[in-house]
Amino acid sequence: MEALLEEIIRDCAVYKAQGRPASYIPELAKGDVNDLGIYVVSSDGQSSRAGDWHKPFTIQSIVKPILLLMCLMDNGAAFVREKIGVEATGKPFDAINVDGGSLAAQHLNPMVNMGAIYMSTLIRGRSGGERFERLLELTRLLAGNRDIAVDENVYRSEKRTGNRNRALAYMLKTYGMIDDDVEDVLDCYFRACSIRVDCRDLANIAYCFANRGRAPITDERLFPMEYAHFVNAVLVTCGMYDGSGDFAVRVGVPAKSGVGGGIMAVAPTRMGVGIFSPGLDEKGNSLAGIKALEELSRRMYLSIF
Ligand code: DON
Repeated sequence: MEALLEEIIRDCAVYKAQGRPASYIPELAKGDVNDLGIYVVSSDGQSSRAGDWHKPFTIQSIVKPILLLMCLMDNGAAFVREKIGVEATGKPFDAINVDGGSLAAQHLNPMVNMGAIYMSTLIRGRSGGERFERLLELTRLLAGNRDIAVDENVYRSEKRTGNRNRALAYMLKTYGMIDDDVEDVLDCYFRACSIRVDCRDLANIAYCFANRGRAPITDERLFPMEYAHFVNAVLVTCGMYDGSGDFAVRVGVPAKSGVGGGIMAVAPTRMGVGIFSPGLDEKGNSLAGIKALEELSRRMYLSIF
């Protein structure tokens, strides 16, 4: 497996410089497009890695499936389906989902920012700070890594420049969906996006979803199987935003991207994959990362379709 991963990293090197690091968050613009890493945790208990798998980056939107899982664990599936919805928006991640003067509630979706900001008010906790701490604890539990923490520079950079997210949150407030203080809600969301991980962390988290709620190695149950099905289904339809259809055809597994350059891919019952390469395509997904996943899927017959 490791030889295959080395080969994929070598073959995909040509795509690294074709993407551009996110620049709308100034701190992310410092990402090095030469980085490309992969880590795989397989159901036979083996772990394999290649390239820059150990380099840290911020989780960004890959926190959305974890936020969704926490929302499910705190409120149940019926509540999440009713309040947030699961229909694919087919829109960019920062789309303003307002239609003809009313909030397109059926288009909130847990994977776009408006839905994710809303979800960060629906998880349990007395304040944004308390909600964030619970989310961080869940992230550490799924990744099996107690050392996971926030990248304070990225957090400050997001908070300073995140005016589009501010607009989305105030829109939710306008429509009576947020009772709490908007800045407190946003603080939880910005901190969540700034959680620092590496490819191994993402692979371990992905494996929990692939293994239907059970941890790697110990097989300990961390969350109910039905929530793994729920999150995986949402990821397959919306995890790569308005690139989800193309990704389903090319790779064919539930996955989530982040503008930090990470991708978490879930091959149900088989493996969890973490990938990192900061050069993004025009939809905000890691360009070389998708190429590497496409190759891994082709070589290992991973497509669920
Ligand atoms: O909300 C934002 O702008 C970012 N913190 C997260 C967006 C993101 O990662 C989109 N993913 N491809």
